[in-house]
Amino acid sequence: MNVFITREIPQIAKQLLEKNNITVKVFRPKRNISESELIKYSKNADAIISLLTEKFDQKTIDQLSKCKIIANYAVGFNNIDIQYAKSKGIIVTNTPDVLTDATAEIAVSLVLACARRIPEGERMMREEKFIGWEPNLLKGIQLTGKTFGIIGAGRIGQATAKRMKGFGCKIIYYNKSKKVDFEKEVNAQKVSLNSLLKKSDIISVHVPLNPSTNNLIDNTKLDLLKENAIIVNTARGEIIDEKYLIKMLKSKKIFSAGFDVYENEPKINKDLLKLNNVVLLPHIGSATIETRDEMAKLAAKNIVNVLFGKKPLTPVN
Ligand code: NAP
Ligand code: GLV
Ligand code: GLV
Repeated sequence: MNVFITREIPQIAKQLLEKNNITVKVFRPKRNISESELIKYSKNADAIISLLTEKFDQKTIDQLSKCKIIANYAVGFNNIDIQYAKSKGIIVTNTPDVLTDATAEIAVSLVLACARRIPEGERMMREEKFIGWEPNLLKGIQLTGKTFGIIGAGRIGQATAKRMKGFGCKIIYYNKSKKVDFEKEVNAQKVSLNSLLKKSDIISVHVPLNPSTNNLIDNTKLDLLKENAIIVNTARGEIIDEKYLIKMLKSKKIFSAGFDVYENEPKINKDLLKLNNVVLLPHIGSATIETRDEMAKLAAKNIVNVLFGKKPLTPVN
């Protein structure tokens, strides 16, 4: 049996697979694999560990002659046509839970960076423009007592809200289902999307990208934001109308925005780079040493289970 891993990930995955007598091939170049390379190396693999940057559409899935499982090295799986994979008898798995805390930490980091204008201060220091304490220097927004709105109160949304509760925020959320335990734990209130956008001082986006959430926060929704609102997105770029958000930031209709994900990733809208009231990160939500190891283990375990006829641990189709 052989597994293809589309990019170097922590060694633990390879070790775990080899311990089970599975042959492992890794795509070594330090860049994302191209579509033709992906097909070439995946064609005869019994299993694949894939990244969120690789698209498994019908065309690519049709080329997989032996594949039993695609283990996505991410919790999001919008890069894979999971229904089509299922129709071809291919199990798709993801890496939930193990990356929840890491991603919540990045969401909170973006909130703090936006609210307290940390990158602006950092840039000022590097440019040697700090000339002494000033009463009006870089005044930001205090979190205490503010209303924090979570769009998508799943694993990461809830973990982010719990952390924000510690800053003294009031929690409201918009979600498909009601989250009773979560409501009790942080005294959260479920509201409509429009109401959340109107009431929140700070908003954090955590819904997965699927047809129901693509452009969920469009221009009409963005127009509902408060004058000094902060919005951060660690979910997927396509969920927010990025162009319109940039327009609002340019004209200072809201206070600021934090991005870990982008509409045309890894391409960046150049207008973002000109703005001072944004914080920009390169999709590093799950990027901690601990979490990336756990993701590698989980992806490998899913493969071992499936190749040995057992149930996958974290299937999505
Ligand atoms: P999750 O536990 O599945 O949470 C998603 C939540 O969104 C669920 O509570 C779900 O509601 C809700 N939801 C789904 N569609 C909705 C809709 N149309 N309207 C309202 N609510 C909706 O997922 P997670 O583990 O928290 O991950 C969330 C997303 O974060 C991932 O899909 C991924 O895109 C992103 N992510 C990014 C990074 C990064 O590096 N920046 C890292 C990890 C994850 P129900 O429970 O009612 O179904
Ligand atoms: C990262 O974006 C993930 O979905 O795990
Ligand atoms: C600030 O440094 C203060 O002492 O208030």
